[in-house]
Amino acid sequence: MQQRIGVSYPLPGSALNRLAEEFDVVLRDPKQQNFAQWLEQYGPSFDGLITMLSDPLNAEAIAKCRQLKAVANYAVGYNNIDVAAAGAHGIQVMNTPDVLTETSADFAWALLMAAARRIAEGDVMTRAGEFTGWQPELLLGKDVFGSVLGIVGAGRIGQAVAARARGFSMTVLYHNRQRLPEALESQLGMEYVSLEQLLQQADFVSLHCPLTPETRHLISTEQLAMMKTDSILINTARGPVVDELAMLDALQKGVIAGAALDVYEWEPNITQGLRELSKVVLAPHAASASRATRETMAWMVTEDVAAVLAGKTPQNPVQ
Ligand code: GLV
Ligand code: GLV
Repeated sequence: MQQRIGVSYPLPGSALNRLAEEFDVVLRDPKQQNFAQWLEQYGPSFDGLITMLSDPLNAEAIAKCRQLKAVANYAVGYNNIDVAAAGAHGIQVMNTPDVLTETSADFAWALLMAAARRIAEGDVMTRAGEFTGWQPELLLGKDVFGSVLGIVGAGRIGQAVAARARGFSMTVLYHNRQRLPEALESQLGMEYVSLEQLLQQADFVSLHCPLTPETRHLISTEQLAMMKTDSILINTARGPVVDELAMLDALQKGVIAGAALDVYEWEPNITQGLRELSKVVLAPHAASASRATRETMAWMVTEDVAAVLAGKTPQNPVQ
């Protein structure tokens, strides 16, 4: 009998067609069933599973998938999966690192620039027919060139963001659980500082750490208060790394000047009040969304699940 692979969302490109040549693919129709319902119905029959970052795969759900051997998360972050529970059931978990690094770094920069120079506000205004002519004080923003960038989390994406700062002659400070090798620091022009120093000195604070128990609410009232009043916070990591209510309060009170967000603490819900603030740029968790990258990610997850089910070693195991 063919092995069965559940795929929790249609993916771009032709990778799923290729997978269906070899496996019994059960593709969820997101309009018909939510992930939990779908997993309840089909989970026990799955040998392999492809999940999205929005699919919670907790210990209870994992225990119900009695014959599951492989889970590939269509994302680099895998905080939605209880990896320890999966491991305890002998399930191999995989993700899609590396491929989305540059794409996501581009996007963090797009958000940084958009917030600094008020691009989204200008677009809304211009569309609404409110551009009535050049004005000396129209949409005054913040200079990026020569400013100080603070990178929290210096993994692949954080490093790729730092590399781009060269062109803007920025001073790049970073904080990471572990300090990077000195050769890499000097190659990337990054200076290691404490989180406190980073928050105090940076004009732009960009978050690139994974979501773990240690990084949940890493940025809350106390940390926001350390930031410069004209600074901008960029979050393309995970929503809960920032205490969203504390951030809203800081923005409303002018504790910080602005924010550019791709992720939200309770996404897809957005804290009430945030949408009303013109000093905030809001994106729909789209940092890795280039066509090429998303198609490559589809190949990565399908090939890795197929590899494990064939008794081979996957390319991107997380445990
Ligand atoms: C995106 O958020 C990812 O983790 O890939
Ligand atoms: C996150 O996964 C990173 O590589 O920075």
